[in-house]
Amino acid sequence: MNVADSELIEGMLSQEGYTPIREMSKADAIFVNTCAIREHAEGKVHSRLGLFNKVKRDNPGVIIGVLGCMAQNLKDELLVNKPYVDIILGPDAYRKLPDYLRRNEKKNHIVDTKLSRFEVYDDLFPSRKQGINAWVSIMRGCDKFCTFCIVPFTRGRERSRGIDSIIAEVSQAVSDGFVEITLLGQNVNSYQYDSVGFPKLLEAVAAVEGVHRIRYTSPHPQDVTEELLDVMASHESICNSIHFPLQSGSDRILKRMNRTYTKEHFNHQVDMMREKIPHIGISTDIIVGFPGEAETDFQDTLDVASQVQFDSAFTFKYSARPYTKAVEYEDQISEEEKQDRLERLILLQREHTLEKNKKTIGSIQSVLIEKESKKSTSQWAGRTDSNKWVIFPKENAAIKETVPVQILNTSGISLQGKIVHNY
Ligand code: 5AD
Ligand code: SF4
Repeated sequence: MNVADSELIEGMLSQEGYTPIREMSKADAIFVNTCAIREHAEGKVHSRLGLFNKVKRDNPGVIIGVLGCMAQNLKDELLVNKPYVDIILGPDAYRKLPDYLRRNEKKNHIVDTKLSRFEVYDDLFPSRKQGINAWVSIMRGCDKFCTFCIVPFTRGRERSRGIDSIIAEVSQAVSDGFVEITLLGQNVNSYQYDSVGFPKLLEAVAAVEGVHRIRYTSPHPQDVTEELLDVMASHESICNSIHFPLQSGSDRILKRMNRTYTKEHFNHQVDMMREKIPHIGISTDIIVGFPGEAETDFQDTLDVASQVQFDSAFTFKYSARPYTKAVEYEDQISEEEKQDRLERLILLQREHTLEKNKKTIGSIQSVLIEKESKKSTSQWAGRTDSNKWVIFPKENAAIKETVPVQILNTSGISLQGKIVHNY
């Protein structure tokens, strides 16, 4: 989402005649587009701002801007402690950036963190680098209010973008050479515009000529329906993969998190996915150490993870966030306990990932070549339909081609293989 927003901002500024530049010392303005989801993400921005401050000492005319969720969340603190920040813009105020840049000549601090019920930036097309995957934002904000999550406060109310403008952007991305489309939203599957829901939107995107692969992220388990899975199953171009955030395997904690599903329901949905889309790749998000999480609750999480056998998981220690309900809970878990649980969960997930990957050995996977392998200039790296990275000798294949690759081995997260000829 952050990458997509940055592309949007870059597109807007390019239209105004600005050009991006890598060397900060030569820039007229420096922006950091921020995330507030966990304290760790904010920490990174604080240290980056320290660097910007040094640049500004050498070049006092440079404009420094903090954009995105952290601007929304920490504007007061930034104004007091980081007076060298000139512009603070929340996620619904990007549109005004060119205007504020003009006005900043007067050298006043500019703060705009107003949230909107309508802004979806539907008339603005992002500036994308030539590449494989185009992120296309389809909705913004979130109304789910999970008790750990700051997003409803920093990104505001849920609103969907019109289907015509989404399809126009997808078509534009295809004519710019992109072959994969990832539909983006805090809650993609609660997309609703007039009578069009998410499954219908997926179908419409699949009907755009030239789109080879379609992915989306992130759905909420509550809104994953049979209709959605049927649409996925019946379109070759919609990838057999889903990010399906569990968060916790304990019903008691799920309730406290306001996740609106039980572990039974979650497991049932996983069964339905695998029944309708065999070999579907399932990744997840899990939080450990949510307030009040007892060892038995954590064991429930490990149990669900073992039962489901996720292909991969993003695992997080609970991070207390301002405005959220959970920050007020008194039974916070110690840092040591969170760290210990995180390590145990990572170890277990590593086993599952290896097991799942081993099962692909011998199979032939359709792989979209995305880049050169980091480890060897003679090898490509690409992803399978089910979202697994595969490394294989280049032979005569080229980036952006989809090739059949036989899987020969796996050492953990990625697979190794070779291109199959005459397949
Ligand atoms: N602490 C830890 N992880 C969090 N996430 C969201 N909020 C928090 C928090 N306060 C995680 C969730 C979500 C992912 C994007 O970030 O797992 O799915
Ligand atoms: Fe945050 Fe929950 Fe909304 Fe996801 S669904 S963005 S975790 S509040």
